[in-house]
Formats: sequence, C-alpha cells, structure tokens
Amino acid sequence: MLLAGWLLVTLGLQPPSAWVGLACQALSGALLSAWLRLPSWWLAINAVFPAALHGAVALHWPPIVFLGAFVALALVYWTTFSTRVPLYASGPAVWDLMARCLPVRPGARAIDLGSGLGGLALHLARQPGAPVVLGLELAPLPWLWSRCRARWQGSACRFLRQDYRQHDLSPYDLVLAYLSPAAMPALWQQLAAQLKPGACFVSCEFAVPGQAAIALPGSGLAGVPPLYVWHMGTDGVLAAGMGPDLTAVFWEKLSCS
Ligand SMILES: C[S@@+](CC[C@H](N)C(=O)[O-])C[C@H]1O[C@@H](n2cnc3c(N)ncnc32)[C@H](O)[C@@H]1O
Repeated sequence: MLLAGWLLVTLGLQPPSAWVGLACQALSGALLSAWLRLPSWWLAINAVFPAALHGAVALHWPPIVFLGAFVALALVYWTTFSTRVPLYASGPAVWDLMARCLPVRPGARAIDLGSGLGGLALHLARQPGAPVVLGLELAPLPWLWSRCRARWQGSACRFLRQDYRQHDLSPYDLVLAYLSPAAMPALWQQLAAQLKPGACFVSCEFAVPGQAAIALPGSGLAGVPPLYVWHMGTDGVLAAGMGPDLTAVFWEKLSCS
C-alpha cells in the first residue's frame, strides 16, 4: 500500500492534503487485506499502519532508536513468523494448577515447550519434591532472561535455547505447552510418536483440532484458561484423560463436579 501511494505521487497524482493521502492508504490497506482474506485483525493493523508510520517520522527521532527497537523486537519474537507462536506469559493461577500435575516419583522429568520468560518452569521447579524441569525456548532474549532468573534464584531448573520440534520428548513424564492453535497439529504428531507410556501432556488454552480433550478440573475458572490433558496409554495411544496418577490427584475435585 505504501508502494501504491509512492506510485501515485510519482505519477503526479498528489493528494490534496497529507490526511487525504493517509486516509487513502488506510483504505487501500484494509481493502488489500480483505482481498487477500487475511484474519480480521490484519485489516485494522494495515489500516492504522500508515498513520502510525507518519506519526513516527514526525517525531524526528534518530534512526538508531528505530534500529534498536527493531533489534529488541526481533530478539524477543525471533521466528514467530514461521512458528506462529508469539510470546505471552501464563500467570500464577495456571502455574498452581500445573504444579498439581507434577509427577512425584524420584527422577521424574518435566518439560515446558516454549518456556518464554521462564515463570512457569521456575515455579514448577520450586515445588517440594519437584522433578527435573527443563524449559526449551527458541527466542534469544526470553531464553537469556530465563537463564538469568534461574541463576539469580539458585534454581535447579534448566533452560535450553532449542526448537522443541528437534527435541526428543520420550524421556519426559510430563510435557507442558502454552503455544498457539497453529502449532498444535504438528505437536500432536510429535507427541503421539515420542511420548512414553504413562506420560502426560498438558496444553494451556489450546486443544488439538480433531482430537478429543478433557480439561483439568479447576481450569476454565476466572483467570485460568482451560488446561487440556492427554495421557499416553500402555497401548501406545495418546488419548484424552489424565491417567491414574493425575486422576488420583484430582479425584476429590472430580467427584464433586
Ligand atoms: C505463549 S509463550 C508461553 C511461555 C511460557 N510457557 C509460559 O507459560 O509463560 C510461547 C513461547 O514459545 C516459544 N516457541 C514457539 N515455538 C517454539 C519452538 N518451536 N521451540 C521452542 N520455543 C518455541 C515462543 O518464542 C514463546 O516464547
């Protein structure tokens, strides 16, 4: 749309004022988004973008500020354009519920796929009798931040900067994920192929398209997004359910519901 504006000006079709030019660009951005069938929020983003750009240029900030902002955002969001999983952190209500899913047997292992700023993994690692907790994060800045937090807190929790799609999930008893709807189908394939019998998979907020799911008792209340849970059976089938260990933990809650 900016190119279209530039072309019009180059062809001598100057708008009568900057505001008319911006309005035309906003309209063309929204129309183009609709024509490309982009999700609705892109219409709003592309409509507002020319005015935001105009406003930013009018600030007359040195170019280094924009370069700095770009680099910082790139280090935080990194490969979001390909993974389609941006950074947003879960909160203490989710962490507490997830903590009830922790395996208690000695030597058990839990992993947070896409550990973001590390809050969830660090919280789990702080629980009494906690298993070994590993966080995998692809974006450099959140990963570095989590590592620093673990060091400051003297936590046994480890953070690796790695793509979970390249990580073998077979050693883990509990796999946690707070990703996005786009990531779920491929993750399901990976879990179904790699999880060991008895292992549990808990997904915060996002179910897997086409797969039956049950939500943990207590999730879906105020401030707690639904937490979906699946269990790998001894028959090698990953199915909705908590498995005997977790069912026992939530038994009291289940029998009341
Ligand atoms: C929604 S955040 C969740 C953060 C954290 N688990 C929590 O509950 O607060 C998802 C994170 O997953 C990371 N991510 C996305 N795709 C990934 C991948 N393939 N491998 C590792 N991390 C990934 C993103 O960079 C982002 O920080």
